[in-house]
Amino acid sequence: MKGIILAGGSGTRLYPMTSVISKQLMPVYDKPMIFYPLSTLMLSDIRDILIIATPEDEENFKRLLGDGSSFGIKLSYAIQPKPNGLSEAFLIGEEFIGDDAVAMCLGDNIFFGEGFENTLMQARRNAEEGKATIFGYYVNEPGRFGVVEFDKEGKAVSIEEKPSEPKSNYCVTGLYFYPAKVVEYAKTLKPSNRNELEITDLNNIYLKNDKMEVVLLGRSFAWLDSGTTDSLLEASSFIQTIQKRQSRVVSSPDEIAFTKGWISEEKLERIVEKYGNSSYGNCLKKVLEDHKKYVEKRI
Ligand code: TTP
Repeated sequence: MKGIILAGGSGTRLYPMTSVISKQLMPVYDKPMIFYPLSTLMLSDIRDILIIATPEDEENFKRLLGDGSSFGIKLSYAIQPKPNGLSEAFLIGEEFIGDDAVAMCLGDNIFFGEGFENTLMQARRNAEEGKATIFGYYVNEPGRFGVVEFDKEGKAVSIEEKPSEPKSNYCVTGLYFYPAKVVEYAKTLKPSNRNELEITDLNNIYLKNDKMEVVLLGRSFAWLDSGTTDSLLEASSFIQTIQKRQSRVVSSPDEIAFTKGWISEEKLERIVEKYGNSSYGNCLKKVLEDHKKYVEKRI
């Protein structure tokens, strides 16, 4: 199973901040935005991940994340010269994906909630068995997104991109799991009226062929996209609240790598040293301390 983080785009809604730096490198509380989608893919047990960025930003992502070895994973990089749409990721990533199933997370999407790892693992199994999975989330203004239409039995029947009259309140979030051969489907897509290769068109192919599961994320679940000044601030406040109340870090690739046994205790110690007295560094220090307490108890 492969993973893709689509972290291109122009970030116009965050100008002037994004005129010199990628949106996905902006802080969401104590860590760069891209740590969140990276954590989502790592929680899905995906260790081979392609980061797609703009030509201007690719180098910064490499400086931040390197080849992935510090997280016990493999990271590769590719460029999307222009934001030609989400489905273009599968054309850019064709060689990387090869014959594997693939999960894609948008670079500005944040997921947080109980049982998320199980949900992800089920989506992964679906993809490996030939069925795609997307996630629906109840929002007040669904018209800004792809919107799911359900039949009387509650079965998802189609998705409409940014409809003026949405047929439900459930929008499609920026996390998608596809079986092998998604590239072949992506190649059949034509640019939409706004000249983008739409993910909605790709998803509708799977829906029509009855090869798509739409999992609804419940009300105890948080899905945040951080593409506007308000949503960026709200996302930061949300993460701050959760981290302070629970004294645990949210969406840390370093913690996930350690918990999954992909990096050693010594390696995490070195990372803690590197990050020093930052808020993020202190969170990781606590991960280490908790781990030691737990191990001591067992001994
Ligand atoms: P958007 O928020 O739709 O677009 P954007 O990031 O360019 O921002 P703005 O609307 O403010 O100009 O994109 C959602 C995510 O998908 C974001 O992480 C960027 C990414 N993206 C790409 O990488 N390539 C694309 O072609 C598109 C459309 C989006």
